Amino acid sequence: MEQIDKTVLITGGCGFIGSHLVRLFVTKYPTYKVVNLDAMTYAGNQDNLKDIENEENYVYAHGSICDKYLVDKLFAMYDFDYVIHMAAESHVDRSMSNPNVFVETNVMGTLNLLNVAKHHWTDKSDRKFFNMITDEIFGSLSVDDKPFDENTPIDPHSPYSTSKAAQYLFGKTYYEAYDLPIISLCCGNAIGGYQYLEKLVPLTIDRLVNKQEIPIYGKGKQMRDWTNVHDICNAIDMLVHDGCVGELYCIGGDACVSNIDLVKLIIKEYCTLTNNKQSEYEKLIKFIPDPRGKSHDFRYDLNHDKITNELGWTPKYTVEESVHETVEWYLENTEWCEALKNRDNSYKTWVTYHYGDNFKEKK
Ligand code: TYD
Repeated sequence: MEQIDKTVLITGGCGFIGSHLVRLFVTKYPTYKVVNLDAMTYAGNQDNLKDIENEENYVYAHGSICDKYLVDKLFAMYDFDYVIHMAAESHVDRSMSNPNVFVETNVMGTLNLLNVAKHHWTDKSDRKFFNMITDEIFGSLSVDDKPFDENTPIDPHSPYSTSKAAQYLFGKTYYEAYDLPIISLCCGNAIGGYQYLEKLVPLTIDRLVNKQEIPIYGKGKQMRDWTNVHDICNAIDMLVHDGCVGELYCIGGDACVSNIDLVKLIIKEYCTLTNNKQSEYEKLIKFIPDPRGKSHDFRYDLNHDKITNELGWTPKYTVEESVHETVEWYLENTEWCEALKNRDNSYKTWVTYHYGDNFKEKK
């Protein structure tokens, strides 16, 4: 009989950060039962967890966080000690064209999880519910502003960030109104392997591999704080065991760079690893009209003093190291990329719809 010390529900475990987190918990804690609830939307990918899918302490549950009956059944079956809620619609550009699904998943889905946890967790001791939020809820910084921290007022500008702000506020409210043991985690842009190809970093690498144009919105001056996905998962691991209930923690990467600088760094790394000429590949950069318009936040940056002072967490990866590791990962996993692109029409449909004439398929 396997020994079980803790039961953990990770929602969205077939996604990018979620799959890294599932892998970390399944391998690091053999006595934890890890249940991954994932709806397998376009961004979910079971290939992300092939290496651990047969582990004894791993359970995959296919379904949506919006499904009350299913979530209730899982809580009844596993009596979860921890819920780590990672499932989300997370692409800003998609939220501009279809805001409703962001409200359904990020707001209504979260509310459903909170209600079921509230119902089942009559004994709340040692339970924790982690609500994963984004720095985008804080709005936009100028170059000289101090990074966001736990006390920054909320000021979202896109349907995505507004849905995440609502998710955050519902979690906070359930702590205050019902004493539900909520911990909120705020992350910046994550970088690493297994990210769906439509986001800036994997999109750039995939375009380089196929020698296709790389679309940069506007002049590429916007800045993002890039945190390595392993650093984020390590922070979550620390918070699961030692984080304070009722608190918000910001997990910043100390790696705030402009989009154009990041893309150039990726090109440099790609050319070093593949022995190609950098100037040749920089010609692929194409500045296109900004599809986000006024809602395109200029800069996100996150201060991590609180988690550093309380738990000793700091980001271990510089942006250069993250770029190196990530470019290498995508180069070693071109089959993963091709399988994803050919799995269904969602990638191609998105690319055609979103980039249109700005995005030529072949040079
Ligand atoms: P993204 O990876 O979508 O993350 P987020 O918008 O949540 O920060 O985009 C990162 C930045 O890159 C953002 O400022 C928009 C920009 N971007 C481009 O310039 N071109 C692209 O094709 C994409 C997808 C993003």
